[in-house]
Amino acid sequence: MSDEFDKNRDYRFTKAHFAYLSGLVEREIGIQLPEHKERLVYGRLVHRLRDLRLSDCEDYIRLLEDPSSGEMREFLNAVTTNVTSFFREPHQWKALRERLLPELLATKSEKRLRIWSAGCSTGQEPYSIMMCLSEFFDESWDVQLLATDLDTKVIETAQEAIYKEELVNRFTQAQKRRWLFRGTGEHRGMVKVRPELRTNVTFKPLNLLKPWPFAGPFDMIFCRNVMIYFDKQLMFDLVRRFEEKLTPGGLLLVGHSESLVGGDFRLESIARNTYRMPPVTERAA
Ligand SMILES: C[S@@+](CC[C@H](N)C(=O)[O-])C[C@H]1O[C@@H](n2cnc3c(N)ncnc32)[C@H](O)[C@@H]1O
Repeated sequence: MSDEFDKNRDYRFTKAHFAYLSGLVEREIGIQLPEHKERLVYGRLVHRLRDLRLSDCEDYIRLLEDPSSGEMREFLNAVTTNVTSFFREPHQWKALRERLLPELLATKSEKRLRIWSAGCSTGQEPYSIMMCLSEFFDESWDVQLLATDLDTKVIETAQEAIYKEELVNRFTQAQKRRWLFRGTGEHRGMVKVRPELRTNVTFKPLNLLKPWPFAGPFDMIFCRNVMIYFDKQLMFDLVRRFEEKLTPGGLLLVGHSESLVGGDFRLESIARNTYRMPPVTERAA
C-alpha cells in the first residue's frame, strides 16, 4: 500500500514527507500543521521545488538539511500565513480610542512610549498603531514602535510600505491625505505610507520562539493572530514572556480567537482580547 497522498500530483509527496516537514515547522516556529493542511504544505513546497528546479521531495529535504543552502529560511517564509489588514479587529481600535489610550496617557509621568507589534506581517498593523497613536500623542512625545516577524519577505514589504489602493479603501479622505502618497505612472493604483508614519517604526526579523534581543519594557504589545497556530502550552509560555516585557499598566492585545482562559497570568482582562498588567500598588510596610 502506498503512503502517497495523491498519485496524480506532479511530485511524489508521502505521509512521511509531510510528517517530516510538519514536525520541522512546529519545532522551529511553533506553527502546527495537522494532516488536513497537507494540501497547503504540498502547494507551498511545489513553489520551492519549481523555483529550485528540483525533481523530488527527497532532494528538497536534503537541501533543507544543509545549513549552507539557506533554504530553511525560504521554507519557513513559504509556510507562514500572512493575512492582515489595516485596523483589523475594529473593536480593539474602538476600545483603544475611547478608553484605553486616554487611560494610558493619564498614567504616564514622562512623554515616552514603547510599543511592540510581534508578528507584524506586511506592516498594516504597525502603521495602524502609529495612526491611532497620533490622535493622542503629539510630536513632543518620544514614541517608538518595534515591529517584528519571522518571515523576512513580509518584513521587506512592510519596510517598503507600498500597498494596493483597495487595501486602504476604508480610510477617511482626511486619513488618506494625511498619511499616504498616491502612486502615479507605474505605481498607479498603489499608495505609499508617508515618512511621518514610518520614521519611528523599526522592522526586524524575529522568531518569537527564540531569545528576544532587546530589553523592553513596552507599554503595549500587539501579538494578534499569531499564536492561533500554536498549541496552548506554547501560547501560554509566550504570554508569560510577554508579561516580563510589559510595564506596570502595560497592554497586551491578542487576536479574536486567542483566548488566555486556563492560563495562570498576572495580566487582567480589560476588554475583548485585551489584557493589562496590574499597575504598581504601594505595598504595606
Ligand atoms: C496572520 S499574520 C497576523 C498579522 C497581524 N498581527 C494581524 O493580526 O493582522 C501572522 C504572522 O505571524 C508570523 N509568525 C508566525 N509564527 C511566528 C513566529 N514563531 N515568530 C514570529 N512571527 C511568527 C507570520 O509570519 C505572520 O506574518
